[in-house]
Amino acid sequence: MRTQVGIIGAGPAGLLLSRLLAQRGIDSVVLENRSRSYVEARIRAGILEQHTVDTLTEAGVGHRLRREGMEHRGIHLQYPGTRHTLDFPELCGRTVWVYGQTEVTKDLIKAQLDGGPPLLFEVSDVTPEDVDGDSPRIRFTDAEGNPQVLDCDVVAGTDGFHGVSRPVVTAGTAGQLWERTYPYAWLGILADAAPSTDELIYAWHPEGFALYSMRSPSVSRLYLQVDPTDSIDNWSDDRIWENLSRRLDLDGWSVNTGPVTEKSILPMRSFVSAPMRRGRLFLAGDAAHIVPPTGAKGLNLAVADVTLLAAALDRLLNERRSDLVDAYSDSALRRVWRCTHFSWWMTSMLHTSGDDFDAQLQLSQLRRVCGSEAAARELAENYTGLPIEG
Ligand code: FAD
Ligand code: DHB
Repeated sequence: MRTQVGIIGAGPAGLLLSRLLAQRGIDSVVLENRSRSYVEARIRAGILEQHTVDTLTEAGVGHRLRREGMEHRGIHLQYPGTRHTLDFPELCGRTVWVYGQTEVTKDLIKAQLDGGPPLLFEVSDVTPEDVDGDSPRIRFTDAEGNPQVLDCDVVAGTDGFHGVSRPVVTAGTAGQLWERTYPYAWLGILADAAPSTDELIYAWHPEGFALYSMRSPSVSRLYLQVDPTDSIDNWSDDRIWENLSRRLDLDGWSVNTGPVTEKSILPMRSFVSAPMRRGRLFLAGDAAHIVPPTGAKGLNLAVADVTLLAAALDRLLNERRSDLVDAYSDSALRRVWRCTHFSWWMTSMLHTSGDDFDAQLQLSQLRRVCGSEAAARELAENYTGLPIEG
């Protein structure tokens, strides 16, 4: 088999890259080690920045998003006794959209299988080779168990945090890793309950952070800060609702409850691996970096990476010029570090550690964001997504 760009991983980064390349006349093959149903059922992020919505729309996969997604004009920031609304259009002229990552993935897979470039599920033993030369290849075993070789001009490693691509990059470059693990985790639930809030609520509470989000007019998505060593077995649905009600409490208002259809505990970490390239192997998305979810940046950053990468590969493969691929890692990492800082800052402001000095600093910062237009604008600009710089 031969293609121009061999793409490892059919998450949002790999699927969107394949589509953006096809729009530029560049062919690709996407290799995914899981099944279609597994990939489509994975519940993850829910907030799309303006540039993500624009990119998906330009890529021809924005129809259902525009129909079923919900445009949000702000967030509520809460601490005991106060719920303050940040109005994004007023502060920075942008909005965000609530549309689950599962739906983004389903739309991209459907478009791919509907006449797009090949997408192979349930492959195994995926191994990028000879990435330092001009003719790299990917060895893999197909779903029927046959060994295959995919010859390419370029390999894209969009295989997430646990993929095979990043180790190949770090083994062959004098790179650097940065990592921070946090002493908290999120317990996330999906519930068949109409959201009782118009905008997402990010709530500081002495017992820990809580977040009220949603997926549709009849489905709520809520999160609670828990200890990273805690087990989901310790959390009955009743205990979860009691904690959510207490942490999100406000006079005259209550959380709508309903059947919990999914619950799990997610660890939180910041992680950056640089450079995002070795020769003809380019990393994008979670393969190169992870942020804690508080700033809603993970998925959006993956989209920003592949937007840059698609333009760089267009220049390389269609114009034979290497300036943009040579700049790719540095350009992408500038945004990665901005989002890493913002996600760390939101996480640090909203999660309690039991230290009363820290709590007072957090409350002071929250009062500042709610009371100063300049401080609120800084949050709004970062949350809705800064422009992509190529
Ligand atoms: P992924 O979505 O991880 O896609 C990588 C793909 O590569 C997967 O399909 C995987 O199966 C495949 N793959 C892996 N190894 C191989 C291999 N060897 N060969 C072939 N294929 C391979 N972000 C937020 O902003 N908000 C959230 O609430 C949020 N919640 C999250 C919850 C969880 C449990 C996780 C893990 C992440 C969450 N994120 C969240 C982060 C966000 O979902 C990711 O940033 C986003 O999925 C990144 O997309 P990606 O395409 O880079 O990676
Ligand atoms: C959701 C996830 C986030 O990490 C966040 O900051 C806001 C919303 C969500 O899953 O809806």
